[in-house]
Amino acid sequence: MPETEKIRVVIVDDISETRENIRKLLQFESDLEVVGVAQTGAEAIQVTSETRPDVVLMDINMPDMDGIAATEKIRAKLPSTQIVIFSVQSDPNYMRRAMLVGARDFLTKPPDVDELTAAIRRAGVMAQNEKLKEANTQAAVRAGHSSTSGRNYGDSGKIILVFSPKGGSGSTTLTTNLGVALHSEETPVVVVDGKLQFGDLSFFYNQQGPNNVTDLAPRGNELDHQVVEEVLVVHESSGVSILSAPPQLERSEEVSGVEFSQILKYLRRMFSYIIIDTGSNLDEVTLAGIDIADLIVLITTQDIPAIKNVRLFMNLTDLLGVDRNQILFLLNKFDKRRSINADRIGDITKQTVMGTIPVDEKFVIPAMDRGIPFIIENPSNSVSKAVFKFAEVLKERIAENDQVEEFELEN
Ligand SMILES: Nc1ncnc2c1ncn2[C@@H]1O[C@H](COP(=O)(O)OP(=O)(O)OP(=O)(O)O)[C@@H](O)[C@H]1O
Ligand SMILES: [Mg+2]
Repeated sequence: MPETEKIRVVIVDDISETRENIRKLLQFESDLEVVGVAQTGAEAIQVTSETRPDVVLMDINMPDMDGIAATEKIRAKLPSTQIVIFSVQSDPNYMRRAMLVGARDFLTKPPDVDELTAAIRRAGVMAQNEKLKEANTQAAVRAGHSSTSGRNYGDSGKIILVFSPKGGSGSTTLTTNLGVALHSEETPVVVVDGKLQFGDLSFFYNQQGPNNVTDLAPRGNELDHQVVEEVLVVHESSGVSILSAPPQLERSEEVSGVEFSQILKYLRRMFSYIIIDTGSNLDEVTLAGIDIADLIVLITTQDIPAIKNVRLFMNLTDLLGVDRNQILFLLNKFDKRRSINADRIGDITKQTVMGTIPVDEKFVIPAMDRGIPFIIENPSNSVSKAVFKFAEVLKERIAENDQVEEFELEN
């Protein structure tokens, strides 16, 4: 979408003073435009279907229908419209329910203007990306490239490899929660355990099934939707699909790099995002993942050994010809009391840090122990918000890289 096009916003709140206050706040933002207001859930559904906004600011408590039910209905009708929940309540249960019906962000009243406009802009970028995707799909359908049976994304799903060159930096934690943040009905996610020995991804979702990647590897060349669906396990509360590592160490040998690539290529047809969790060893399977990935989420912490390993890893990816734009650098377990900050890490590694996830052991570790992605347990916690924010950065980077690729193909 051209930069001059404004982000179109609808404000939903039963209190007219709140609606007016927000409208006034947004008047000063030249890239945002309020295209409608509504004071009940039913009115919100009507106004949004008339105005087709990019972003809806949604109150939770309304006389006729709660904001969560309204969100669900709007998302079903207008998949590209993004909803930002705006409420006095920061009750995790509300947040979780809102997230499950597709709300994009959460703000507490009264609004902090910077937080409000930043959330609208993030949601706006996402809405525009979704519209672009819808337009592309329609163009593909018109050109006769669509499939007639089942869900099929051609081979347009994006492969994201999550790698931390120092063990224990949070690769599995971030794969798990990023998977939930990126998943929606329109953009289904599969997470793949690429750590074939000692892989623990399915435990972070507390969701084990009878099958795993070794059941697909021998059939790499002749996969079909049904076979793959039989092997995947669907995480009940988020809808994310999981491809597990084998539970026996010796069975890791049963998957070659070539077979792993074949499986990933097939998953591209079924999912919008294929997120691979890896171990810190550059084994055959991880190298195959690096080779095929559209994007590498490279994780560091503020520890010197981790930063040293990032440098080593990037020496290798440079040699392998991985474009630096394909690497999205993420700082996890960020502790602001430590002297080394994101800018300094960026200078040392010559790679800009694109996201920062705060350290919060009291929040992150119990969720892991319970096998509940923390982003579901409490989406409004600052660690969860940081993951949502990073998910947006990731989508933007994918869209930018796609544009560059298209441009290069045309010229
Ligand atoms: N932001 C964070 N704040 C606090 N603790 C965290 C954070 N991120 C991850 N952790 C904790 O760090 C530990 C290691 O995380 P995780 O297992 O995700 O790392 P990993 O890179 O996958 O490790 P491995 O090399 O074993 O695969 C876990 O106990 C996890 O709960
Ligand atoms: Mg791990």
